[in-house]
Amino acid sequence: MSDTATHVTLRRRPHGMASADDFEVVSVQMPTPGDGELLVRTRFLSLDPYMRGRMSDGPSYATPVAIGSPMVGAIVGDVIASRAPSVPVGTVVTTSGGWRSHVIVPASAVRIVDPAVAPISTALGVLGMPGQTAWYGLNRIGHPKAGETVVVAAATGAVGSVVGQLARLAGCHVVGIAGSDEKCAHAVHDLGFDACLNHRAHDANSLRDALRQACPRGIDVYFENVGGAVLAAVLPNLNVGARIPLCGLISRYNGEDQTPLNLGPLLANRVTLQGFIISDHPEAFPPFIAEVAPLVQSGQLRYREDIVDGLENAPTAFLRLFRGENFGKLVVRVG
Ligand SMILES: NC(=O)c1ccc[n+]([C@@H]2O[C@H](COP(=O)([O-])OP(=O)(O)OC[C@H]3O[C@@H](n4cnc5c(N)ncnc54)[C@H](OP(=O)(O)O)[C@@H]3O)[C@@H](O)[C@H]2O)c1
Repeated sequence: MSDTATHVTLRRRPHGMASADDFEVVSVQMPTPGDGELLVRTRFLSLDPYMRGRMSDGPSYATPVAIGSPMVGAIVGDVIASRAPSVPVGTVVTTSGGWRSHVIVPASAVRIVDPAVAPISTALGVLGMPGQTAWYGLNRIGHPKAGETVVVAAATGAVGSVVGQLARLAGCHVVGIAGSDEKCAHAVHDLGFDACLNHRAHDANSLRDALRQACPRGIDVYFENVGGAVLAAVLPNLNVGARIPLCGLISRYNGEDQTPLNLGPLLANRVTLQGFIISDHPEAFPPFIAEVAPLVQSGQLRYREDIVDGLENAPTAFLRLFRGENFGKLVVRVG
């Protein structure tokens, strides 16, 4: 075993869009586990939009990453040393390991991953936090019914791709909004969406009109991932009694989106809009995995991963999320 581990730390707090210079790749001495602890070697690191929030020290539901500390993030990896009999060496686990090649964690802080169920990287995507987010927001807040129209933004991403497929399986008319013609073709031809609109080919007015055409019976559930001009185009198309699971507002995470919004349709149509943070709902993981793992195994629910090699490339890969350059769940293959 090497006697050093690699960390990617936060060097300074970004203002606006982050840059690779905001991070630093450092070598540290290989840690050793104490009683009840494990040494985990990272195989895959998840890169997620929420990490941008952890780089800032403004008001938030979560504590910011301290300057000089490793970035936070979920990992999946191998236990290579164990001082906990319940989790022996060789077990594959997922945990909040951060942007690190190796991490010490208490055995109580890991979830065991069964490689026989699906490729282990899916524990960070379709069978992990993003999949659970999609399942929870759609079912517990969106309450889709067969025959209703469901629209989802960032439709080919980690969360959106699961939302749209679950809505299709529930018998809904599903319309995606994504950032390229290639992504839209994937949503329709591979994921089974009824239609998909490229928001980069429209302004808010023409996207509003295109949505009206794609959703002739109006929108009953809008799963919100982005905000901004996309939300502005959706609002006038909402039906009476529509539901909006407010999952994310990625167009605002770097502070750049100032699109004015007319909230009149929310009032007139008695729309329910509910924000949620999935880490508040650990109880939703067992029912989520019981329903979605068999769908993934049978091929009824498909997933796409965007895999980048090398922990040192995590900073530049992370930035792709905010330019729409990831195509599917973004993960780093660490080793
Ligand atoms: N509430 C929760 O607990 C929770 C949990 C997980 C994720 N989320 C949120 O869910 C959303 C999706 O996350 P994800 O992990 O599935 O990411 P993702 O969709 O795999 O990747 C992010 C995508 O957002 C779109 N995007 C980026 N900047 C945009 C902009 N300015 N305007 C419109 N679209 C933009 C791009 O897709 P296009 O190229 O298609 O535009 C990009 O590929 C994020 O807002 C995230 O914060 C929330």
